[in-house]
Amino acid sequence: MSAPNPPSPVHAAPPRIVVLGSLNMDIVLRVPHAPAAGETLLGRSIDHIPGGKGANQAVSCAREGGQVAMIGCVGDDANGRALCAALEADGIDTAALRTTTAAPTGTALILVEDGGQNRIVMVPGANAAVDLDAAALRAQLQGAAFLVTQFETPMDQVERAISAAHAAGCKVLLNPSPMQPIAAPLWPRIDTLVVNELEARALCGQAADSPQEAALAGRALRAEGIARVVVTLGARGAVAIDDDGARHHPAPQVQAVDTTAAGDTFLGALAVALGEGASFDEAVRLGIRAAALCIQQPGAQPSIPRRDAVLRSPLPPDWIPLP
Ligand code: RIB
Repeated sequence: MSAPNPPSPVHAAPPRIVVLGSLNMDIVLRVPHAPAAGETLLGRSIDHIPGGKGANQAVSCAREGGQVAMIGCVGDDANGRALCAALEADGIDTAALRTTTAAPTGTALILVEDGGQNRIVMVPGANAAVDLDAAALRAQLQGAAFLVTQFETPMDQVERAISAAHAAGCKVLLNPSPMQPIAAPLWPRIDTLVVNELEARALCGQAADSPQEAALAGRALRAEGIARVVVTLGARGAVAIDDDGARHHPAPQVQAVDTTAAGDTFLGALAVALGEGASFDEAVRLGIRAAALCIQQPGAQPSIPRRDAVLRSPLPPDWIPLP
């Protein structure tokens, strides 16, 4: 049985979103397939493209219409300057971005196979030097709709930011990627958790390879004290789990060129829609439409769509309640 799906969130005042996270220069190699151990392979192309989960999520929030401030750290080098300029071009407040001379800007090596699948190795560099200023953080979180964060910056800083957001009454949207365990006291401070199949299984021990399994995993994660969980399932869409149960949101079927930043795009669209007052299901649906557009373009930040393009994109199939 499918539920009647409302069309799209209503535009409201732009929600203020604070993003704590990484900024990386992505070195993207297009390859026919991922090389095996000991194999030498001819690549098709090499590009340097602005990325980093934190920066990508900030860009997604901004292109969805959010008023965004980014907290992070870059090296004192050309990559760092290019990444800051990229955020500013999207109207993102970079006043809380630090520059360090102690490490180069973060870098990610991304292999993109024909068919769009990627493999990523990230070297944190300056991202490891994030050092929050408690007073400035408190001021930024005051009145913000969401703190959005991930695990590409040091865990102690992420934990401090989550606790500060909780104390300021600002909701926390966490994407625990790359996967690390979440400290017990943090669970009830997280409003919305977005995980993929692998992260869901690592966090709760429950496989999440099908929508039904993802619903079980989401329920197990909610039992830790989280209000809303989304388990993303790639081309099969996502499962949303909250007080009202679990729903499978199928994705529109599209030809993937490069899946890099699909999850970040989803997350930004979700955060802004929730901040605008959309229902959880409307927000997930918007995120799925945004991610479907993202994967049809190469690269991280250049592939993140704007809200108007998302609203013009094909509607996905209706969501399906799960037992
Ligand atoms: O989520 C995609 C991002 O992960 C890339 O842009 C890369 O920088 C890594 O952080």
